Amino acid sequence: MKKSLIVANWKMNPQTLREAKKIFNSLKKGVRNVKNMEIVICPPFTQFSIFNSQFSKNIKLGAQDCFWKQGGAYTGEISPQMLKNLGVKYIIVGHSERKNFLGENDEIINKKIKAVLEINLHPIFCLGETKEEKNKNQTFKVLEKQLREGLKGINKTKINRVILVYEPIWAISTTEKTVDCSVQDALGAILFLRKLISQMFSKKIAQEILVLYGGNVNGKNAKEFLNEKWINGVLVGAASLNAEDFKKIIKSV
Ligand code: PGA
Repeated sequence: MKKSLIVANWKMNPQTLREAKKIFNSLKKGVRNVKNMEIVICPPFTQFSIFNSQFSKNIKLGAQDCFWKQGGAYTGEISPQMLKNLGVKYIIVGHSERKNFLGENDEIINKKIKAVLEINLHPIFCLGETKEEKNKNQTFKVLEKQLREGLKGINKTKINRVILVYEPIWAISTTEKTVDCSVQDALGAILFLRKLISQMFSKKIAQEILVLYGGNVNGKNAKEFLNEKWINGVLVGAASLNAEDFKKIIKSV
């Protein structure tokens, strides 16, 4: 049976530690007996304390971003090493909102992925096209560029720590989306990413690397994605802030 990875990206929510604790505690109760999966919660940095000594076998702490250096004069930044010291195992890198609002590009993403790998954590590397790019049939071209640039200089010994996420920007729940991404489209993109990994690394790595889907995943549709052999899990935004909905996603594994 395959092991699934379910990642909660809380983004810049909720507003108080109290609310964060409430969501987390409700979640914890609901996942005590789950098997064959790892749940990663990525709260805002200021809410990491809700995890204090509360790590469980199934729930791991993740971060939504990091800087590409481990320390130094970088005002306002947080290093992968600092996050590791707090118990973080996974770090989201290259989320489309960071590209869109903060100008992150492929070069920055590549540096961040390398910094995360350097200290043996797992980068959760997001890739996906805009609505415009999709309408121009450029999905595969865009994904190929993002993947090759993002993984530039990363060798075979480290690649198995990378987790890829196909997250079409047009399907993210908070964008002005009009359609959901179908399982067929998600699978098509994910198989394409695996084919590229096979060319860049090896066939074995292409089969073993974890590739997730993200974009308006919720309690109703998660099962369809998670049933697919080549989709190893989901990255969940809005629905992960609703403990009941998130538990439904977990139950659908
Ligand atoms: P969504 O967000 O699940 O609310 O669409 C996913 C994401 O942006 O990671």
